[in-house]
Amino acid sequence: MQKKLLITGGAGFIGSHVVRLFVQKYPDYHIINLDALTYAGNLENLKDIEHAPNYTFVKADITDAEAMSELFATYTFDGIIHLAAESHVDRSITDPNAFIQTNVMGTANLLSAAKTTWKNNYEGKRFYHVSTDEVYGSLGATGFFLETTPYDPQSPYSASKAASDHLVRAYGNTYHIPFVITNCSNNYGPNQFPEKLLPLFINNIRNNKPLPVYGDGKYTRDWLYVIDHARAIDMVYHNGKNGETYNIGGFNEWQNIELIKLLCVKMDEKLGRDAGTSAKLITYVKDRPGHDRRYAIDANKIKNELSWTPSVTFEEGLSRTIDWYLANQQWLDHVTSGDYQKYYNTQYAHS
Ligand code: NAD
Ligand code: TYD
Repeated sequence: MQKKLLITGGAGFIGSHVVRLFVQKYPDYHIINLDALTYAGNLENLKDIEHAPNYTFVKADITDAEAMSELFATYTFDGIIHLAAESHVDRSITDPNAFIQTNVMGTANLLSAAKTTWKNNYEGKRFYHVSTDEVYGSLGATGFFLETTPYDPQSPYSASKAASDHLVRAYGNTYHIPFVITNCSNNYGPNQFPEKLLPLFINNIRNNKPLPVYGDGKYTRDWLYVIDHARAIDMVYHNGKNGETYNIGGFNEWQNIELIKLLCVKMDEKLGRDAGTSAKLITYVKDRPGHDRRYAIDANKIKNELSWTPSVTFEEGLSRTIDWYLANQQWLDHVTSGDYQKYYNTQYAHS
C-alpha cells in the first residue's frame, strides 16, 4: 500500500528541498504538500517535480482548523513532516501575532486533526515537527546547545516555535501521538527568501545596494547547507526514535561580519569585480531588538545515533549558493517585487 505523507510548508525554502528529496527518493510514497503560499511560499521552487505521479499540492492554511480536519479525513496520512511556519525573526518583531497564529495555533490544529483521524491507532504513524535552535535562546562566547538545554526563547519567532515544540511533546505525552522534533541551526542555500542574511546580501551585492550589518556584526550563527538539513529530516523521519529530539547543525560557526567579508570576496570573484568592491557596501545599522548573540549546535546525538553528518563543506555550499542566485535572477526578481519591496523599505527605513 502506498504511504501517504503530508509535508507542510513545502513551497518554502527548506520545505521545497524536503519535498523534492522525498518525491524523488520514495516513488512508493504519495507526498501531499500543503502550503498557504504566503509571501515566503513559491511553487516555482518545485517546478521540476510538479508533475510527478506521487506528488499532490494542496493550497490550504494551517490556521484553518476545519480545513485541516477535512484534509486529514480525506487522506488519513501515515505521517506528517511539519515545516509550515512564519520564519523570519525581524517580521516577528514587527508582527508577533501572525507568528502566534501560524506557528502555535496552526501546529495545534495539525495535532488535533492527527489525533482525531488516527483515533489511538498509532501503528506506523509519526508526527515530525521541524523546529529551530533559537528555542534555546542565546549562548555566551563558549558552550553549545544540547537536546537537554533548557528552552529560553528571546524573540516572538523563537517563543512561538518553543510553544509549538511544547504542544507536540504534550500531545505525545498525553495522547501518545508518536512524534519526533528536530532543532536545526541557520540554513542557507538555493530558494531562500531574500530577507534572510545570505540571499539578501547576495542580492544587494548584485544590485550595488548597502549591506545592512546589525549592531557590531559580532553575532555568531552556525550555518548548514539546506540539502544537508533535508537529508537529516529524511533520516530522522525514518530512523529517529519516537519521543526524541535531535539537534541538527553544521559544525560551522561564523561571526556575521566574518561571513559577510568572505561573501564579499567570493562575490567579487564571481562577478569579475575588483577585489574589495563588494566590501565597500558593508554598512553598520541599528541592531535588531533582543538580538541573540550566539547560536552553536552540538549535533553529536544525530551524528552518533543516526550516522548523519553534513555532506557539503561550507566552501562548496557557499559557492553553489552564490552560483544559484546569480543564475536565477528571475526568481529573485519575482519574489522581491510588490509586497516584499514594501517590507524592505519599512525594515531598513532608518538604516
Ligand atoms: P519559509 O518562510 O521559507 O517557508 C515557510 C513556508 O510555510 C512557506 O512556503 C509558507 O507559504 C508556508 N506557510 C506559512 N504560513 C502558513 C500557514 N498558515 N499555512 C500553511 N502554510 C504556511 O521557512 P523556512 O526557512 O523554509 O523554514 C521552514 C521550517 O524550518 C520552519 O518551521 C522554521 O521554523 C524551521 N527552521 C528554519 C531554519 C532556517 O534557517 N530557515 C532553521 C531551523 C528551523
Ligand atoms: P537571519 O538570516 O535573519 O537569521 P536568524 O535571525 O534566524 O539567525 O540573520 C542571521 C544573522 O544576520 C543574525 O545575527 C542577524 C544578522 N542580520 C544582519 O546583520 N543584517 C540583516 O539585514 C539581516 C537580515 C540579518
